[in-house]
Amino acid sequence: MIDTGLDITTEKVAQSGLPKVDFNNIPFGKIYSDHMFVADYDGKQWGDFRIVPFNKLNLSPATSVLHYGQSIFEGLKGFKSQSDDSVLVFRPQANAKRMRESALRMCMPDLPEELFMTGLHRLIDLDRNWVPDVDDASLYIRPFMFATDEYIGLKPSEKYQFIIFTCPVGKYYAAPVKVKVETNYTRASKGGTGYAKTAGNYAAAMYPAKLAQQQGFDQLLWTDGVQHKYIEESGTMNVLFVFNDKLVSIPTSDTILPGITRESVLKIARDWGLTVEERPVEVAEIISGAKDGSLKEMFGAGTAAVITHISHIGLEGETYELPAAETREVSNKILKELKGIQRGEIADTRGWNYKI
Ligand code: COI
Repeated sequence: MIDTGLDITTEKVAQSGLPKVDFNNIPFGKIYSDHMFVADYDGKQWGDFRIVPFNKLNLSPATSVLHYGQSIFEGLKGFKSQSDDSVLVFRPQANAKRMRESALRMCMPDLPEELFMTGLHRLIDLDRNWVPDVDDASLYIRPFMFATDEYIGLKPSEKYQFIIFTCPVGKYYAAPVKVKVETNYTRASKGGTGYAKTAGNYAAAMYPAKLAQQQGFDQLLWTDGVQHKYIEESGTMNVLFVFNDKLVSIPTSDTILPGITRESVLKIARDWGLTVEERPVEVAEIISGAKDGSLKEMFGAGTAAVITHISHIGLEGETYELPAAETREVSNKILKELKGIQRGEIADTRGWNYKI
C-alpha cells in the first residue's frame, strides 16, 4: 500500500446518490459516484488537495483549456474482489506513468505518481460502495488534468486543475463491433500527439467516425497518416489479430496510444507460451486473411472496451466478415483470464492489482 500521508480535506455529500442506482442496469459513463478528488497547480506546485461532492465546475469563458486544448486524461477500472472485501484497481501505476508522459508532451506540469495514487486511493476508499459487484460491471475511474489560466493568448497555461471522479459502468460495447478502415482522414502523424491521452486526439477523430457510423460501422480502424497502408489503432482501443495460431500486435509508436490492456494481453499470451509477434500490419494483410480464413480473430483491447471482438472490416465499399465471436479461442481465453485477475478470482501473479 502507498503512503497516503498527503494532507487531503474531505467534504462529504449530504445525501448519497447510491440508493437510486441499479447496478444491474448501468449505462456507460452517465452515472457518477458521490465524490471527486481535486488538486490545483498554482504555477509552482500542486496543492489544495480535497475530496468534495461531485459537482459542476465553475469556469470563466476565458479558461485556457476551452480554447487551446491543454487537457489530458486517463481511464482505469476498479473491481469488487470476489475473494475478500477489497476493491482491486487494475494497474493504476501504469496509468499514473502514462499521464506523466501525456503531460510532458502537452506542456503541462508533471503530476507525481504519489499524488495520483493517493488521490485515487482516498477517493475510492470513500466511495467504495459504488463499486458494482456484478459480472461485466466495474468502477470506471477518470483522472484528468486541464489548463485553468484565464487568458486569451497562445501560451502554456501556468495554472492547472487535476480531478479524479468515478462512475459505475457496464459494458462499453455490448456486442462485437464493425470497423471501417480509414483511408482518407488521419488520426495522428509522426511527431504529433497520437501517443498522448489528450482530448484533441479524440476530438479530431469524431467527424471521420461519424461518417463511418452513418455507413453502419461502429468504429474506425485508423491507418498511418502517410500511405494509409498500415493499421494503427481503433480510437477507443488498440487492435490485435490472430493469424492462424499467432497473436499479432502492432508496435506502439508516437502515433499509437500505448494501451495498458494491450500490454497486459501480450504479457498473458507470452506467459502462456503463445507465439506473439509485434510488427507492423498492412491493411492488405488483414483483407487477404479475412478472405482466405487465416485471420481467425481480430479484437480491440482497452480499459473501457476490455477485449471487444471485431466482427466485420469495411474497406472501400466492401465488407469482410470474420469468424463468429464464440469460435475465437485465443481472445476468449485471454478475456477470461484478464477478468478473473481483475475480479480477484485468479491469482494475480504479476502484481497488477492495487488493493484498497
Ligand atoms: C478508456 O478505454 O478508458 C478510454 O479512455 C477510451 C475512451 C474513449 C472511453
